[in-house]
Amino acid sequence: MKLWKGRFAKASATSADEFNASIGFDKRLYKEDITGSIAHAQMLGKQGIISPDESELIIKTLKEILDDIEDGKVEFTIESEDIHMNIETLLTERIGDTGKKLHTARSRNDQVAVDFRLYLKNEIKETDEKIKMLLETLKKLAEEHVETVMPGYTHLQRAQPVTLAYHLLAYYQMFARDRERFADCMTRVDRLPLGSGALAGTTYDTDRQFLKEQLGFASVLPNGMDAVADRDFALEFLSCVSITMMHLSRFCEELINWSSVEFGFIEMDDAYSTGSSIMPQKKNPDMAELIRGKTGRAYGDMMSLFTVCKGLPLAYNKDLQEDKEPVFDAADTIKASLGIFTEMISTMTVKKENMRAAARYGYMNATDAADYLVSKGIPFRDCHAIIGNMVLYCINNGKALDELTMDEFKSFSEAFDEDIYEAIDVVNCIRAKKSEGSTSFESVKKQIEDLK
Ligand code: ARG
Repeated sequence: MKLWKGRFAKASATSADEFNASIGFDKRLYKEDITGSIAHAQMLGKQGIISPDESELIIKTLKEILDDIEDGKVEFTIESEDIHMNIETLLTERIGDTGKKLHTARSRNDQVAVDFRLYLKNEIKETDEKIKMLLETLKKLAEEHVETVMPGYTHLQRAQPVTLAYHLLAYYQMFARDRERFADCMTRVDRLPLGSGALAGTTYDTDRQFLKEQLGFASVLPNGMDAVADRDFALEFLSCVSITMMHLSRFCEELINWSSVEFGFIEMDDAYSTGSSIMPQKKNPDMAELIRGKTGRAYGDMMSLFTVCKGLPLAYNKDLQEDKEPVFDAADTIKASLGIFTEMISTMTVKKENMRAAARYGYMNATDAADYLVSKGIPFRDCHAIIGNMVLYCINNGKALDELTMDEFKSFSEAFDEDIYEAIDVVNCIRAKKSEGSTSFESVKKQIEDLK
């Protein structure tokens, strides 16, 4: 039934109904919609806008409708357009005129805004839980790999030796900040739009503070026009999702590289890998690739809503109905990605020996060799040049720095002594780092300690 049909002389076209309807996707908000309506009915009753009996009957029936939806007994219709009018229609079918009173002092504009915020509050909570689990997994892995030496890269070229724990803790910090961002986003989602009416407020003596308490919001949005018109809170959520997906995607890119024969640093568990339909030898890191790919969707969802909002005059415009699908998609995508990612990394095998072997070659101790000469009183820039020459010599002679003889060392600088071998040993290079937040074993242990 068209709840707004009064002003119209003829029925809308079926094609227009289909184009206009959002029930196909906003039915997901049924619970939030009923929760919002129950609070609204309580408020109407408390304020004497409807009678206590009417309020009670509405609430009781809304609860029955909720049960029926969850038991799969309710068929939504396109004719009723969206979740709000579908539920109101069901209510009126069941209790007649009393049901028609529910929408007093309310508009679908503040109704949809409150539903959407309730939905997002829950999504943020669930996403946060998943990031928390990922952080716990990363911490556990870091604890296991405090001694696991591997190459650290810049430009994807071997740069300086680090430990796997150090590398994992870098991601820990990124995801920990993602949690902060979601928590901060929550403070702005957690504000009540309900009671704003269509845009200008209502003539009834409503109690928005009561609605805020009932629905568990932290505060009441102070301007009704803002409350119904803006979707910045959803954009913030999409931005948080995009940043977290970006972090996941970088990590996935590394895991994909690391599981190649060329790197050979890890092997994904069979349970989280797939094979090829033609090449029998293949074992592909599809989960990681999919997360990397889905990051594109998340960015798309964010751009989509930014673009929907950019030219909208105040207050509500139907364009805003386009806010839901990108947000639903992003919320589903991030939860699924975080879940599978955590399972994937907690089951993968780390090939420590390969990491360690890779850390030996690539002249990653060259900076430490330069630092050694600095300790013998040579200015750093000169040391850099001397070691640069030595590396070139080593490349031409197929040697690692620590494979040079003492005579060879001396031919580059008289300052070299026997203790150079000690100084450029890969493990010693790690141990020797002194700055706060470095890859040294001590520092990494402290970084883990500080997570508690
Ligand atoms: N289905 C609509 C949406 O999602 C609900 C609000 C409709 N409001 C209106 N004034 N037509 O945005």
